[in-house]
Amino acid sequence: MAKLYIANWKMCGEPAMALQWAEAMVRLLGATWQGEKQVVVCPPAPLLPLLKSALSASSIALGGQNCHAQPEGAYTGEISAPLLRAVGCDYVLVGHSERRALCGETSEIVRQKAARAIASGLIPVICIGETAQQRAEGQTLEVIQQQIDESLPEGASAQHFVLAYEPVWAIGSGKVPTLDEIAQVHAAIIAHVAQRIGLASPAEIGQVTVLYGGSVKPDNAKDILAVAGVSGVLVGGASLKADDFYTIVESGA
Ligand code: PGA
Repeated sequence: MAKLYIANWKMCGEPAMALQWAEAMVRLLGATWQGEKQVVVCPPAPLLPLLKSALSASSIALGGQNCHAQPEGAYTGEISAPLLRAVGCDYVLVGHSERRALCGETSEIVRQKAARAIASGLIPVICIGETAQQRAEGQTLEVIQQQIDESLPEGASAQHFVLAYEPVWAIGSGKVPTLDEIAQVHAAIIAHVAQRIGLASPAEIGQVTVLYGGSVKPDNAKDILAVAGVSGVLVGGASLKADDFYTIVESGA
């Protein structure tokens, strides 16, 4: 299955950089590229319309970095899922660990946001992952299973959401789990999701999409993307430079 590559610019980037990035990615991916790989960019929200137009001739999709659980209303400063959809997004990140830690997002809130995203025609990329302390205490799988149980909307089917396994300690740190550790956690996530939403056949289970994120760089992407159970990558820092992100996209299937 074609892998999914998501660029998460976080609160970085500005109009001139976004235009250069779009021009470089379109050039690097080439005129013949028909979107065999799924490539998504999640810029700060004010850059979405500009990127929508700069990428109009390409197969690169757009995503938001967050959405509110309500479709509209008196929520100053928030961004609604229907509006993300209306300006051309196909995806939205929900429950990124920075939002869980800095904005007080609980798994219950993440579940509501993911449900709203699905109802609005977006694919939520639900982020989960353990802290360094939880890992040191041997709680990684337990924490992740609980996050899945609490963050996954009721009745969601595998095609309607993406999970991103992002160990909190690996984000922006240059540290990554071993390939065996990534394989083990991804297998556990897939098994838990399958059980939770009632998938039985290998074909159904094969539709569960689990990205790895946390210090993915041009020099480690190939190995990470080759790990069983890794359906793609969620890239922060290294996605800001088109050359680096392109190298990552080129590294996998
Ligand atoms: P990083 O961030 O690639 O800079 O570690 C990943 C993320 O936060 O999604």
